[in-house]
Amino acid sequence: MTLTVVPTPTSIVAPQLEITGGRRLSGEVRVSGAKNSALVLMAACLLSRDTLRLTNVPPLTDIAGMGEILTALGVRVRRGQDWVELDASHLSQSTPPYELVNSLRASFFCIGPLLARLGMAKVPLPGGCKIGSRPVIEHVKGLKTLGAQVSIEHGVVSAAVPGRSQRLTGGRIHLECPSVGATETLMMAAALADGETVIENAALEPEVVDLAGLLNAMGGRVLGAGTPTIVIDGVERMHGADYAVIPDRIEAGTFLLAAAITRSALRVTPVIPEHLGAVLTKLVDAGCELIPDGEGMTLRASHIQAVDLRTQPFPGFPTDLQAPFMSVLATAQGTSMVVENIFENRLQHVAELQRMGADIRMQGNTALVEGVARLSGAPVQGTDLRASAAMVLAGLAADGITTVQGLEFLDRGYADFEGKLNAVGASIRRLEP
Ligand code: UD1
Repeated sequence: MTLTVVPTPTSIVAPQLEITGGRRLSGEVRVSGAKNSALVLMAACLLSRDTLRLTNVPPLTDIAGMGEILTALGVRVRRGQDWVELDASHLSQSTPPYELVNSLRASFFCIGPLLARLGMAKVPLPGGCKIGSRPVIEHVKGLKTLGAQVSIEHGVVSAAVPGRSQRLTGGRIHLECPSVGATETLMMAAALADGETVIENAALEPEVVDLAGLLNAMGGRVLGAGTPTIVIDGVERMHGADYAVIPDRIEAGTFLLAAAITRSALRVTPVIPEHLGAVLTKLVDAGCELIPDGEGMTLRASHIQAVDLRTQPFPGFPTDLQAPFMSVLATAQGTSMVVENIFENRLQHVAELQRMGADIRMQGNTALVEGVARLSGAPVQGTDLRASAAMVLAGLAADGITTVQGLEFLDRGYADFEGKLNAVGASIRRLEP
C-alpha cells in the first residue's frame, strides 16, 4: 500500500511556493530593471547634493533595504513602483548602521561615494554569505591608492582622507581579480577625486558600464567602462540626473531557461543579447532555437542535449545563472559538466536537485549532471537567491507537486517571480504560514 502525505495549510511553517509541474509556457514575459545595477546606482546618489531619479528600478526587498540604508545616512528617499528619487543634499551620517548593512552586502557600495564626498566613511564589513566568503580586500587596497587611510577594526572599515582638503587623489590601481564590486566602488570614489585614476584589470560586466553611464550623466568623466582599463578624470562636483537602469540580464536568462526546461516557446523582453552572449551560445548548443526580434527574444525548445558550463567573469558564463542552467541540464539528454569558478560554495542546489531525482555527481567545484527523463516533485529548499530560482524551474518541469522554501532569497532578486510565470501558463501558488 502506498501512503501519500498531502500537506495541509496548517502544516506550513515558512512561506513557500507550491508548483504543479508539467505545464507548457507560452506568451510573453517582461523583465524588470537590473537589481545589481540599481543597487550601485542608488549608492551613487551620495556623490551629489542634487536629486538623482532612477527609473526601471525593480520592486525588490534588496532595493527597499538599500533605501533604508541611504535614509539612515540622511538621504531623502521617495519610491514608486519602478522608480526611486534620492536627495542627498544633507548627509547626517557617514556610518550606515550594522543591522542594515549586515542584511545587504551591497550596502558596502556606500564607502566609495561617502569617502569621496565627505572625506570619511565608516562601513561595517559585510558578512560572508551562503555562496562564499566574499572579501573586500581589492576595494580597500584601491581606496588606499587614492589616498585614503583605511583600517579594519572590530568588524568596521574606517576610511578617511588626511589633509585639509579631504579630497581623494587620482592614482593607478591594478586589481588582482576583476571584482565587480571593487571596480564599482573605486569608480565612484575616483569620480570626485583630484586628478586622473586608471583602474586596470577592471570588471567588464554590463552593470559596470551602466554605472559609468550614470556617473557621466551626473557630470563625471569616465572612459573605457566595459574594457579592462577604465580611466576616470575626477571632477569637483557632480549634479543630479534622470537615468534608466538596464534590464536585468540574469532575470532574462532565468526566463529563457524556464522556457527551455518546460520545452516551450516563450518571448522574453527586453533582452540585450550582448549582455547574455555566453548564455545564449550555451542555449543554442543545448538545442534551443533563439529568435531575436529587436527588443525581445523568443526561445523555442523541444529537445535539450547536454552542454558543459564553466562560470567566468563577464563575458564568460555568469555564476548567477549556473544554478538555473543546471536545473535544465538535469533534464537534458547526455552528461554535462558544470564547473563553478567564481564562488567556493555555490553548488548547494545539487543536493536539492538530487531530492527531485536528478542524477548529479560532485567533485570539488565540479558537478557531473547525467540528464534524467523526468524530475519528480518534492519539497525543496532554495539555499541562495539563484538556487531558489533553480528550484522553481525544476518544479515547473517535474512530475507532480514541488514546494520551494527559501523565498526570502528569491524575493531579493526576482520581482513577482511566480506572478510573471503564472501569466505565461505556470501553476504556482504562494503559501504563507
Ligand atoms: C557581483 C554581483 C553578484 C555576482 C558577482 C560575480 C552585485 C551586487 N553582485 O558580486 O550577483 O554573482 O558579482 O559576477 O553586483 N574577490 C576577491 N577579492 C576581493 C573581491 C572579490 O578575491 O576583494 C573574488 C570573490 O571572492 C569572487 C570573485 O572575486 O571569487 C568575484 O567577486 P566580485 O566580482 O567582487 O562579486 P561581487 O561584486 O561581490
